[in-house]
Amino acid sequence: MGQFRFLTAGESHGKGLVAIIEGMVAGLPISEDYITQELKRRQAGYGRSARMKIEQDKAEIISGVRHGLTIGSPISLLIWNRVWKDWQEIMSIVAADNEIPPLTSPRPGHADLAGVIKYDTEDIRPILERASARETAARVAVGAIARKFLEEFDFTIHSHTVSIGKHRAKQPKSMDWQQVEKSPVRCADAGAEKAMIAAIDGAKTERDTIGGVFEVIAAGVPVGLGSHVQWDRRLDGQIAQALMSINAVKGVEIGAGFSIANVKGSKAQDVIESSSKGTALPWHRTTNNAGGIEGGISNGQPIVVRAAVKPIATIGKPLPSVDLRTGKSTEAHYERSDICVVPAAGVIGEAMLAIVLVNAMLEKFGGDNLKETLANYNNYITSAYSRNRYATS
Ligand SMILES: Cc1cc2nc3c(=O)[nH]c(=O)nc-3n(C[C@H](O)[C@H](O)[C@H](O)COP(=O)(O)O)c2cc1C
Repeated sequence: MGQFRFLTAGESHGKGLVAIIEGMVAGLPISEDYITQELKRRQAGYGRSARMKIEQDKAEIISGVRHGLTIGSPISLLIWNRVWKDWQEIMSIVAADNEIPPLTSPRPGHADLAGVIKYDTEDIRPILERASARETAARVAVGAIARKFLEEFDFTIHSHTVSIGKHRAKQPKSMDWQQVEKSPVRCADAGAEKAMIAAIDGAKTERDTIGGVFEVIAAGVPVGLGSHVQWDRRLDGQIAQALMSINAVKGVEIGAGFSIANVKGSKAQDVIESSSKGTALPWHRTTNNAGGIEGGISNGQPIVVRAAVKPIATIGKPLPSVDLRTGKSTEAHYERSDICVVPAAGVIGEAMLAIVLVNAMLEKFGGDNLKETLANYNNYITSAYSRNRYATS
């Protein structure tokens, strides 16, 4: 963990979620409304369960902010679970008055089976409660604070859906992010959007689930975040870990990603071309196969990351499992569940990318207050992005 770090706590049907953030500079303007906006984006998306209508997530800032500005101390956030009122007995902190029947039929594709063995419990409930992607609401709240910091440095971070099932969006020349925000599946291609919605409906009718791929793009990233000098300082490695840690993400690629493996070396790289006078730097790139990172260092191009989301594992027609009490074949446990989470996962991907980038920014520019970090950043930009720097005189 670097300077900017966080922990989350909370069970899916417990009282709520908590996040503690450490390392954010003082002097950053932040409000609960700003964080809530991001939480809303996570809850939207065609194919989510009815729970998303119940929750209407809102983050309460408990500490670390005074008069609308961060004060440099740990920021703690609280998101109450509205469902708690109906789960007080099952999720009671103290021993329950009535016996709660244990869940003993693990769902393939979940933490259920490995979790009960590892934590030595007969009941799957304590495992699934924390393994649930409900936890990602806390990450999105942390990501909102990260995003607010990055906005001070003119970063933009967006995500869109690349595919759902076998339906793939055509990549437009330039992305219309407003259109993406309006799209129920967060897709920029209206034709593909229709097919994606139909595919989600189809999966629902078949009592099945469906996965896909999302892409996150961060623009405005300066040259020089991350480093080639040590494995754990490589920015691409940090991003891959952060994105891979999102529930149900099974693959991460940066830039051209897996497809680069099929291309000759001469075609795979982003050639360095000379720029005309009057531009900030004496070179430019016309392609971005590297996805904005070379040698573990940001190269000034947009950072482009894609992630593959598996079709979620709680299925309306439950898969075969074994009752752990009897050892007999049975059906896996089922409880209310999403059909498709790709659009929501994209929003979580934005949050995770923002968190990694804040850490990299603070590692490079340091500072205990925003003014100091901005001054260090501006100083670097004026010297590093100066043609004079390269002049031989
Ligand atoms: C936004 C989001 C919502 C999710 N909702 C569900 C859900 O309703 N039901 C489910 O079985 N899995 C859901 N998942 C996926 C599981 O949390 C995940 O598959 C499970 O914890 C096992 O982890 P793994 O798939 O990363 O191995 C969701 C994932 C995300 C990103």
